[in-house]
Amino acid sequence: MTHVDATAALPSLQDLLDPRHQADPYPLYSRWRTQAPLARLDEQLLVLTRYEDCAAVLRDGRFGHPDADDPRFTGRARPALEVLVDDDGRPVRGFLGLNPPSHTRLRSLVSQAFTRRRVELLAPRIEELTAELFTAMESAPGPVDLIEGLATPLPVAVISELLGVPDADRHRMLMWSHAVARALVPDFLLPPGAAEQEAQARREFTDYLRELVVERRHAPGDDLLSALVGVHDGGDTLTENELLATCTLLLIAGHETTVNLIGNGTLALLRHPDQLERLRSDPDLTDNAVEELLRYDSPVQLTVRFALQDAEVAGVPVPAGTTLLLLIGAANRDPAAYEDPDRLDIGRTPVRHLAFGQGIHFCLGAPLARLETRIALRTLLQRAPQPRLAGEPEWKDHITLRGLRRLPLSLG
Ligand code: HEM
Repeated sequence: MTHVDATAALPSLQDLLDPRHQADPYPLYSRWRTQAPLARLDEQLLVLTRYEDCAAVLRDGRFGHPDADDPRFTGRARPALEVLVDDDGRPVRGFLGLNPPSHTRLRSLVSQAFTRRRVELLAPRIEELTAELFTAMESAPGPVDLIEGLATPLPVAVISELLGVPDADRHRMLMWSHAVARALVPDFLLPPGAAEQEAQARREFTDYLRELVVERRHAPGDDLLSALVGVHDGGDTLTENELLATCTLLLIAGHETTVNLIGNGTLALLRHPDQLERLRSDPDLTDNAVEELLRYDSPVQLTVRFALQDAEVAGVPVPAGTTLLLLIGAANRDPAAYEDPDRLDIGRTPVRHLAFGQGIHFCLGAPLARLETRIALRTLLQRAPQPRLAGEPEWKDHITLRGLRRLPLSLG
């Protein structure tokens, strides 16, 4: 029978936020999964750590995102999903924060423009950008910081390229994307001041995009923004606010996540020289390696759902109004789902994981994130025959988006 721990001192939100667990949160997750897989932190908050439970909630329409004014979720809802404010002062959400049918309609319109083919066509440009960044790193004397030199600039350059943001504005994109990345953290877990900073960055980004949209309406290019402007589905189109909210969502969801996959993935390989060597000698393993790296040290460690009606998980009643913290990072190390889950094995097949979520909100940018990371890892192994850690990596202070602030590397 499933054990619901209503009284014990663990787990606690303080544990989750404790910097001591940043370098390696997995022992803590493992303890929770064993002792209280469905842990009720208070009347309203349930923390899930098992693969099957997290996957079940993500696939279940009874869990979703409440309206901001739903009194059952006061203080728990995620205004952060409201990516901009319309002319009447009403918040507008990106479709990550919507339920069907609004989610279905918007995701389907956006998918017509953000296609797999559009992503595949970007491959040569991503290779070029990666090569340029490598050349710049190689020209620096001594060790390099992979986060600063490659993992950070690459995804923002790719999203800018995708949207058609001119080169001259890249540095502003980088600044905005840092600030808005906090949007993925539930508000009750944010440090003081972060929400205001992020709102300001979003306003600036929206104003900037608004001008770009006007330009693209007059003179469409072959970029995603022009395609989104032109999208039609039997007379249905994206309104201006939906368009702006979608572009902001792409920046929020697509930047820091990919930075972290490149950083966490490279670190995992450096700490497992046998796996690094295996990948170098068999580059055909790259696709599979990326999946295993997504599982092993997931860039998105948690997501949130809300019980919109009475439901149950693994036979345990979950009353309407409950907030569920789904620890994806823990689910991806669940021994019930993987043999020897704490072992990095780039040949592991199949690697089904929850790193991109599951169900209707499954990551729309997964093909792009995979492509960028494949190219980054291949280039690293081609151009740096013996990459070695050249100092202690530093983790960012971010519990949702797990990633490195610094990854000092000697390229060999
Ligand atoms: C390694 C990189 C990435 C990871 C780990 C990641 C992870 C995720 C996860 C876990 C979700 C689901 C969240 C939930 O259900 O609450 C998601 C959704 C989403 N992601 Fe990603 N993502 C990555 C890269 C990207 C990129 C590059 C883009 C686009 C440029 C993107 C766009 C989106 C969008 C639009 C959604 C919302 C989908 C929906 O609500 O239907 N992501 N991502």
